[in-house]
Amino acid sequence: MATSLQFQITSTARFSSFKTAPSNSTSNSRSITIPSIGRLTSSCCINYHRQPLTAKASLSVELPTTSAKDIDGDSSKILLEVKDLTAVIAETKQQILKGVNLVMREGEVHAVMGKNGSGKSTFSKVLVGHPDYEVTGGTVIFKGENLLDMSPEERSLAGLFMSFQSPVEIPGVSNIDFLHMAYNARQQKLGRPELDPLQIYQIISPKLELVKMDSSFLNRNVNEGFSGGERKRNEILQLAVLGAEVAILDEIDSGLDVDALQDVAQAVNGLLTAQNSVLMVTHYQRLLDYIKPKYVHIMEDGRIIKTGDVSIAKLLDKEGYKAIA
Ligand SMILES: Nc1ncnc2c1ncn2[C@@H]1O[C@H](COP(=O)(O)OP(=O)(O)OP(=O)(O)O)[C@@H](O)[C@H]1O
Ligand SMILES: [Mg+2]
Repeated sequence: MATSLQFQITSTARFSSFKTAPSNSTSNSRSITIPSIGRLTSSCCINYHRQPLTAKASLSVELPTTSAKDIDGDSSKILLEVKDLTAVIAETKQQILKGVNLVMREGEVHAVMGKNGSGKSTFSKVLVGHPDYEVTGGTVIFKGENLLDMSPEERSLAGLFMSFQSPVEIPGVSNIDFLHMAYNARQQKLGRPELDPLQIYQIISPKLELVKMDSSFLNRNVNEGFSGGERKRNEILQLAVLGAEVAILDEIDSGLDVDALQDVAQAVNGLLTAQNSVLMVTHYQRLLDYIKPKYVHIMEDGRIIKTGDVSIAKLLDKEGYKAIA
């Protein structure tokens, strides 16, 4: 089975470029064929027409001492360290990220808040290697390795997950096939045996219960015809099945009704361990009542301008951004 190709879809198919790509092939395109898996799919072909993300940051990266005590005396392992990250929109070269700094350690929940258009989603997408953006400076170290040197697929396989603010549809690919391919790609990377359709169902089934999704969603194409809330639940299902050491959740609370918000938050809390970490982008303090962050960062004009505890979010909720300036 073409497992490496299978996995490419699991990360790059999550970028919206697939939905709009024309069907003819060009020299810039990558053609990905998804083989049939079990009873559920026939093969299909998706063209990928974007230039790969080019990391222009310096390659001479100084690795952080991942277990050394820092200035605050925190000795837990650093999972992600972002230093002076700058990035532009690939097509127009407009600068969006203007020097982002962030350190995430094992077991920590971080929240990023900020006005519309301040760069939160861009930051998240740059971290997972979205081809719409080009890194122009700074460094990102993920588990001691230079993240900017990795392809989106490698980032995903290394344990970086992102749930998109607007999850895309993947026509022709059923949810269960998507999860199956992604899961097996990870298995292969870890040198473990690939699972057959029955085995993968056994893995997915309890995760469906965790996110309170009906099993009928497995046979539907990824996000096709899903309501906004169903898409968000589906993103968390993917996280639950695939696992991640750093999960970036971009507005996981948007479009969720009160009950769904509690379900999703409960599921995320159920996935948190002392070894992983979550970065939540949100506009609302409400989410932070359910998933409690250690740090809240405020982003403004492509930079994190303030970091504190949850009291910042409470102040924001009460008095708006003027209280933060
Ligand atoms: N691919 C793109 N093409 C053109 N402009 C872009 C692109 N990506 C981001 N931008 C612009 O960059 C700025 C930051 O966008 P981004 O989506 O990161 O903001 P955000 O902080 O996530 O906002 P929101 O809270 O509304 O989701 C915006 O002005 C947006 O229009
Ligand atoms: Mg956004």
